[in-house]
Amino acid sequence: MFVSTTQTVLEARDIPRHIAIIMDGNGRWAKKRFLPRVVGHKKGFDVVKDTVKRCSDLGVEYLTLFAFSTENWRRPQEEVSFLMSMFLQALQKEVSRLHENNLRLKVIGARERFSSEIVDCIEQAEALTAQNTGLTLTIAADYGGRFDILQAVNQLIAQGVQEVTEESLSSALYAHYAPEPDLFIRTGGEIRISNFLLWQLAYSELYFTDLLWPDFEEEALHDAIRSYKRRERRFGRTSEQLPTEKQRS
Ligand code: IPE
Ligand code: IPE
Ligand code: MG
Repeated sequence: MFVSTTQTVLEARDIPRHIAIIMDGNGRWAKKRFLPRVVGHKKGFDVVKDTVKRCSDLGVEYLTLFAFSTENWRRPQEEVSFLMSMFLQALQKEVSRLHENNLRLKVIGARERFSSEIVDCIEQAEALTAQNTGLTLTIAADYGGRFDILQAVNQLIAQGVQEVTEESLSSALYAHYAPEPDLFIRTGGEIRISNFLLWQLAYSELYFTDLLWPDFEEEALHDAIRSYKRRERRFGRTSEQLPTEKQRS
């Protein structure tokens, strides 16, 4: 069902339905330890696995993780190759576990620059887990928010659509199946969106932490959710217009 935060007021809930994370700080985590950057990416991957499990246990319905941006191709070739081989290995090794746990996997972004092996694995993983009813894990890889909006608009033009609406645009975005993120988290200390889900972050609660991604452990996730719970999501209304705690329960 199409729900837009600029057209509908969402019900308040204690656990965000959708969490979107920019997992930043792997390189600096390694550098602090005089290790190569790629060691930080490996440790970061362990934290990805833990975070997926924690979110699933908490009842989060959608978790979207920014793994590789359209701009990350600008990195040194060795690092890009390492990240691509880690992505492939993760798809080969971890998908069966996701499936056993009833998780649905989606990968959003352009796929043209991935090897055919990676593309095949993505397609197989999505098909295998498509009917699962647990947490939907979305990996944003070769993802850019601007490109996402452009590809959506171009799809609509190709369909001959005369007038673009919020509904038609949202339904042509890569992550059309997910509600907009309630909580956006960025680790690593930078206060920016870095071309992540530009359209969908319109009314998300933003949470920035200096913790580096490999240090984002259980307590850190709970801190982010606690911060979210304290937010007053007004969606343009005044405080006085919000339902009281009593009316909500
Ligand atoms: C995030 O960590 C992971 C990717 C972008 C793939 P970084 O690699 O950006 O780590 P820092 O920001 O250099 O510490
Ligand atoms: C954002 O991290 C992208 C991912 C986490 C995949 P970056 O480290 O690439 O972001 P910028 O370029 O510093 O903003
Ligand atoms: Mg970074």
